[in-house]
Amino acid sequence: MRDAERRREIKNYYLSISADEITSYLTPASFDLWESVARYRRELKIGARWLEVGGGMGDLAAAALDRGYDVLITDVQDELLATAATRHPRLRGRLQRANIFDSRDVQALAARGPFSIVAALGAVLNHARDRKELARGFGHLLELGEPGSLLIVDLMLSEMFPGHPASVWADMLHVLPGFADLARLARPSRLHVLEAHSLYHRYPPTPTFDAEFDERMLRLFLHKGQPSRRARASAPVRGSRRARPGSRRRAPSPSSDPAGARRATRRRPRA
Ligand SMILES: C[S@@+](CC[C@H](N)C(=O)[O-])C[C@H]1O[C@@H](n2cnc3c(N)ncnc32)[C@H](O)[C@@H]1O
Repeated sequence: MRDAERRREIKNYYLSISADEITSYLTPASFDLWESVARYRRELKIGARWLEVGGGMGDLAAAALDRGYDVLITDVQDELLATAATRHPRLRGRLQRANIFDSRDVQALAARGPFSIVAALGAVLNHARDRKELARGFGHLLELGEPGSLLIVDLMLSEMFPGHPASVWADMLHVLPGFADLARLARPSRLHVLEAHSLYHRYPPTPTFDAEFDERMLRLFLHKGQPSRRARASAPVRGSRRARPGSRRRAPSPSSDPAGARRATRRRPRA
């Protein structure tokens, strides 16, 4: 599409819609973990088997249990799992020690699957030895989720820290993948990024790190597709490329769009 044509298309679109559709809506709380998961469970027919990797003190796992999920909480530290059981006695019988970077531990976990939701929150994967190990851990999370499952993963990314370091130290070393690494991890499995949120927290100095630490991480909701390629290829792309009812715009013609283009013909979701 020529530049002038492209600009005319954008102009025509924005001049034909209401102010309500143009304005971005900023809300004080940009997302709620439980609401998002509940919505995807409804819309994508996701089950209730919740695996938490690196679950620490068990607070999140206990909250998931209270919401009716069938929870298994894991951590590399037996001591933390013991604390989780003391803090939340209802988690007893739902705990298993596992190192997410260790294939044998992951196999043992898989035997307790399949899991419909796999969560690794709080930068668990950043505890890898290096980027290669981090990639292996990411692969393990994917393996543990059944086809059609939801993966919720937090990652501190290199670009979120000054100078784009490969790792960052705050009480202990964190390995930092970059956006490009993340793309490489997600592409082979054709993961659908349902949501991505940026989290920020400033930690005060600690005995081992004598400065404030700005922690930034990305929280990703990823949908693992069903295996059948043919079904995917023949399925219509829901909700996109459709003209709005009563739109004064001419109907979109996907055939004339360059590959990967998406026409902004739908009401924009509120931020
Ligand atoms: C920052 S805490 C997050 C705890 C919890 N997920 C949350 O968000 O509240 C990181 C957790 O990852 C665990 N962890 C570190 N390395 C791990 C590994 N190789 N496999 C599994 N868990 C690991 C730690 O023991 C710790 O409980």
